[in-house]
Amino acid sequence: MKGVIVAGGLGTRLRPLTFITNKHLLPVYNKPMVLYPLATLKASGIDEIMIVCGKEHAGDFMEFLGSGKEYGVTISYAQQDTNNGGIADALRYAEDFADGGDIAVVLGDNIFEDDFCEAVADFARGGMVFLKEVKDPSRFGVAVFDDTGEKIVRIEEKPKEPKSNFVQTGFYLFDKRIFSVIKELKPSHRGELEITDVVNKYIEWGELAFSHVKGFWSDAGTFDTLLRAGSWAAEQKQP
Ligand code: DAU
Repeated sequence: MKGVIVAGGLGTRLRPLTFITNKHLLPVYNKPMVLYPLATLKASGIDEIMIVCGKEHAGDFMEFLGSGKEYGVTISYAQQDTNNGGIADALRYAEDFADGGDIAVVLGDNIFEDDFCEAVADFARGGMVFLKEVKDPSRFGVAVFDDTGEKIVRIEEKPKEPKSNFVQTGFYLFDKRIFSVIKELKPSHRGELEITDVVNKYIEWGELAFSHVKGFWSDAGTFDTLLRAGSWAAEQKQP
């Protein structure tokens, strides 16, 4: 399976830091942020990777990561023209790269302790999300379960009144139909093509699987979570 890191967006929640560089090049303890999702893909058995980045600082990504050889992976790059058209908009640029195959998607600001080796190896069809129980679900895409508690009926993006504490983390698996789903999407109230709307389409088809993230997980897109991710990384004594 090939992997895509979405590393565009404006990083508005980290201004003024993101006035001078891209969010994903900021340090998380001893490494630029983007190396963490890169390591997650690699640990999951994926070594053909596309990074979708915004217009500003695209050259910095290439200068830093190059062909990927130093990290034991092959990296291609795509530029998201709109910068903040949404995660699903960023994924549009990976259609040719995916070449009709399944893809793993990881958000460039997500830091995982777990790898997804097993899920990637077992993946056959449909979509798959990875949930984590959190105290502040309103910041995320929140899973709404049926009465049995075993089936997700939909994901609600940043709801004011979350119906569970289980949120979708920034690692996803999709079959090739993701690209036709994206073409049908309409921008949300915040003007973005939402990954949550893609996931909801797979739920509608009855083809969404889910699993739970056991180890540490955090986004690193706010000052507090950037600090939390960095503190965790420091405790791990990251090489
Ligand atoms: O962290 C997990 C959460 O990520 C999920 O629970 C949510 O359902 C999902 O929508 C997303 O929420 P955020 O609002 O935190 O996403 P954010 O806008 O921070 O974007 C996440 C990454 O996607 C970010 O590192 C950059 C990339 N991105 C984002 C946008 C808006 C792009 O590449 N292009 C974009 O246009």
